[in-house]
Amino acid sequence: MTTQSTTSSVTSFLGDKPVHRIGFGAMQLAGPGVFGPPADPDGARAVLRRAVELGVDHIDTAQFYGPDVVNDLIREALHPYPENLRLVTKVGATRDDQGAWVPGAEPADLKHQVEQNLRSLGVERMDLVNLRRFERDDPDRVEPALEDQLGALAELREEGKIDLIGVSSVTAETVRRAHELVGLGEVQNAFSILDRTDEPVLEVCRERGIAYVPYFPLGSAFTGGPAALAADEHVSTVAARHGVTASQVALAWLLAQYDRMLLIPGTSSVAHLEENMAVLDIVLDADDLARLDQVEPKPVGH
Ligand SMILES: NC(=O)c1ccc[n+]([C@@H]2O[C@H](COP(=O)([O-])OP(=O)(O)OC[C@H]3O[C@@H](n4cnc5c(N)ncnc54)[C@H](OP(=O)(O)O)[C@@H]3O)[C@@H](O)[C@H]2O)c1
Repeated sequence: MTTQSTTSSVTSFLGDKPVHRIGFGAMQLAGPGVFGPPADPDGARAVLRRAVELGVDHIDTAQFYGPDVVNDLIREALHPYPENLRLVTKVGATRDDQGAWVPGAEPADLKHQVEQNLRSLGVERMDLVNLRRFERDDPDRVEPALEDQLGALAELREEGKIDLIGVSSVTAETVRRAHELVGLGEVQNAFSILDRTDEPVLEVCRERGIAYVPYFPLGSAFTGGPAALAADEHVSTVAARHGVTASQVALAWLLAQYDRMLLIPGTSSVAHLEENMAVLDIVLDADDLARLDQVEPKPVGH
């Protein structure tokens, strides 16, 4: 594995927009199974306010988190939004009334979902909309043509309802095609020190200078990622050396992979948020990175 750099500057770019390299992933703010309200809505709003206080200017969300629950919390906590806050959503699925994930990826569905996000967030324009594909999760699924899906989002961009277009959970080939078709503001795929199967897609992003925004950066709550990090001897050795936590080492490792790597760690805890924001102060040296190359992969799925 190659490592691109060992130091991190505070800002990088989402498309052409400068953003703090550590943003916030809002999925953890919904109830269990990303469905329904959280046990402590006041606490969830407090996390969002503290994130902005600490310099977060990039929040990743989706109308289908809840559904509506997470976007409502964001609006209640932060509207009117700071001028520099970039709100990013994803479209391509919906939920049924039991919380099951239902495909909703035809061009008309995508347009409808963007409108739902605009409405629930209380904005006239999304800073970035990711087209969430399922080719990584379920290679046998027949999906609408990429050209048609991106065409629908490009029409909304023309109308001023979207600033940037991204893709999520996609192959390297889709990134190349999508970038040629619409010019990508980001790629959002699963990637972490525990699951590096997306390295070929990251390489395409490096070659083209596209922001890469890993989801499941701590190895996924669904599969016990933070605990697996803490249990790894290489991660814990480097953590002890720096006097930081295993989760912080995992995030610092991600930042060292690419200067346009933007993090959106998800948390429902102010203490974890503060820990995550402090990661920019950790500088991993060549010895640390060599040690971390030995971490046993534990792919988490997509
Ligand atoms: N495009 C997609 O398909 C897709 C899929 C999944 C997620 N996402 C986005 O990516 C974001 C990040 O993914 P994720 O939230 O699923 O990440 P993750 O890697 O699963 O990490 C979240 C888990 O880590 C814990 N955590 C966070 N900070 C921690 C810390 N400092 N120490 C210990 N534990 C910590 C959280 O628990 P606590 O709440 O207790 O801190 C939660 O259990 C999501 O919020 C969402 O915005 C996108």
